[in-house]
Amino acid sequence: MERLQKVISNSGLCSRRKAEELILAGRVKVNNKIIRELGTKVSNKDIIKVDDNELSKEKKVYYLLNKPRGVITSVSDDKKRKTVVDLIPCNEHIYPVGRLDYDTTGVLLLTNDGDFANILMHPNEKVEKLYIVKVKGIIKGDAINTLKNGVIIDGEKWEKAKVKLRKVDYKTNTSMLSVIIHGGKNHQVKRMFESVGFPVLKLKREREFIFDVKGLKSGEYRSLTPKEVAIVYSLEKSIK
Ligand code: URA
Repeated sequence: MERLQKVISNSGLCSRRKAEELILAGRVKVNNKIIRELGTKVSNKDIIKVDDNELSKEKKVYYLLNKPRGVITSVSDDKKRKTVVDLIPCNEHIYPVGRLDYDTTGVLLLTNDGDFANILMHPNEKVEKLYIVKVKGIIKGDAINTLKNGVIIDGEKWEKAKVKLRKVDYKTNTSMLSVIIHGGKNHQVKRMFESVGFPVLKLKREREFIFDVKGLKSGEYRSLTPKEVAIVYSLEKSIK
């Protein structure tokens, strides 16, 4: 017996969090009865439907994409813009693990394995995200120190960041930095730099946990190896 939201996310339909929303919204039926309790346990004999469509049991797939600019991190888009899922032709119902902005490039994982996605999206000291950031202006030590100590935005103290200044260019009036954070707040890096007065011009996720885009050109992707998947699963112990 397994929890209903886990079975839904494992089917590849969506993340665990999204599955919980679907249950609470009354869109999930077990043996033709609407179930709204998140703790409900089901077995593989139960027939589960979401919006009256029966869940399929797909094989698990895992991809690493070097996301280009101008692509939306979503499964579909009302404005008909190209999505990251469009870049990976496959029969499984994959979705992105976390998100990168439309104009952000670099490491993005996609899968239909809800447990895998959940492990990486759960706050965890071991899951570092390294970004290369180009900002407008010549950044100064006090702004860097504020980022290192954790910026305060809307009265809330944000996480400390590891920040290194890589280069300043007086001709173009820009600075390049590397930043390591763990969180996945919306526009986290852009908002951090904006809060210290340096708007982000370019942003690339160079690494997430053990994954980088070495060997992948912009828009290219590859499958993860079973060993890489196992390394992600080995983190599960540290988030329980
Ligand atoms: N932080 C941002 O501001 N944007 C991203 O795409 C990722 C992290």
